Amino acid sequence: MTRKIDIFDTTLRDGEQSPGASMNTEEKLVIARELLRMHVDVIEAGFPISSPGDFESVRKISELVGYDAVTCALTRAIEKDIVVAADALQFTKRPRIHTGIGVSESHMRDKLRVTPDECIERAVAAVTCAKRYVDDVQFYAEDAGRSDYDFLARVIQAVVDAGATVVNIPDTTGYSLPDEFGRRIKYLVDNVRGIEDVIIAVHCHNDLGMATALAMAGVAAGARQIECTINGLGERAGNTAMEEVVMAIRMHGAELDAHTDINTREFVKASRLVSSITGMSVQANKAIVGANAFAHSSGIHQDGVLKKRDTYEIIDPADVGAGESQIVLTARSGHAALKHRLEELGYEFDEQKLDELYEAFLNLADKKKEVYDEDLESLVNERDREDGALFSLEGLQISCGFPLKPTATLTVKDPEGQVVTVCDWGTGPVDAAYKAVNQVLGADNDLMEYSVQSVTRGIDALGEVTVRVKAANGEIYTGRGADGDIIVSSTKAYLNALNRLLSDRR
Ligand code: KIV
Ligand code: ZN
Repeated sequence: MTRKIDIFDTTLRDGEQSPGASMNTEEKLVIARELLRMHVDVIEAGFPISSPGDFESVRKISELVGYDAVTCALTRAIEKDIVVAADALQFTKRPRIHTGIGVSESHMRDKLRVTPDECIERAVAAVTCAKRYVDDVQFYAEDAGRSDYDFLARVIQAVVDAGATVVNIPDTTGYSLPDEFGRRIKYLVDNVRGIEDVIIAVHCHNDLGMATALAMAGVAAGARQIECTINGLGERAGNTAMEEVVMAIRMHGAELDAHTDINTREFVKASRLVSSITGMSVQANKAIVGANAFAHSSGIHQDGVLKKRDTYEIIDPADVGAGESQIVLTARSGHAALKHRLEELGYEFDEQKLDELYEAFLNLADKKKEVYDEDLESLVNERDREDGALFSLEGLQISCGFPLKPTATLTVKDPEGQVVTVCDWGTGPVDAAYKAVNQVLGADNDLMEYSVQSVTRGIDALGEVTVRVKAANGEIYTGRGADGDIIVSSTKAYLNALNRLLSDRR
């Protein structure tokens, strides 16, 4: 059995400190419920002294959590903070007080204005004070990432001797390199007496984009708890993203001698929940939970994934609740991807028809960024309408606008294969095009209905036009046409209706 790594979630505390991400108690409770579904080991519910709202949140969250996880409350190394935290946690089934102090030269000299010895005294006093209220006391050595190795070891030795059960080594400013951070943890493992009886935690910020790497280096060196947040929410550039470290441990558990108990299938849901509550959107290329994390758009990758998913995916999207790999159809997609998607939509075509459709698809994809299922269906229907049509559209040029007179130049191939070009004008571009069609087809009719609808979302969507025409004998014919240009769709729809009318007449 590998080492169990505890997942300490601080979305509700460090995550909430992220500018613009503050949450009310109700919202925090919704997230806490999701954290329980994920089976996190510790929930840091807030910083009770900071506001009555935070105090209330810690109290309510701890009631909700019960025995299912440890509920933790943050304090500074100040007696009043600890007393208030203990009060907020008084009915908690598994309470933990998280107290600590800055240990880097800059924190001691510029922020706290204490000497190193005074810093150690305060750290010990805080742990001793917290121990009067709860058994489980976690100590954080703020800015440990920039501290002196020997001094850090002295502080940690003192708080372990004072009864701390967990020692948290934060890289508060996200300054370290992973190798160096790993060496720091190893230094504590080798130099603090009794450290094997306490849990070493890592809490890494993302200022250099390395929070996940730092946390993994910490685990490799002996840490048994990772502090993290959903989506990597947190101060400045954020905290360690839970979904990233948990999946990294899942992938490399044997090398790291580590596992977690997290239900990874909740990741995408949790990510969306936190994003919608905090209003902090998740970048599309975010690892594990971003919209593109399992999307493939280049032809080479699509071909590989369709042959075997793991050629380009290290994680099964279902394992993180992301459903299935996505094949995004764009101008870079190949035959294989188009065929696969059409088959998923229930269409099967021979190679020749598929080649024709691929050409139409590329024409469309050149105009649109992404081709959706509805676009494909529309393309297929368009090809069906064109197959066997008496008259087919070969070209259309329109000139219109203010103060021009709308004119249409239409080229159509007739049933004998002859190409005819005519010109006409009208009250608008559609009227001009329809008059030109009437010139060539000579099919008496009355246009009863005309409607246009976009096939998909976006301003580059295909427009689908439906028309209903009444023949001289009273029979009604419907026609449809789709194209990125709605005058072309309109003309295709009208031709489609008149082709039906003429076929019947024949
Ligand atoms: O980043 C940090 O050092 C913290 C501590 C309070 C644990 O958030
Ligand atoms: Zn932090």
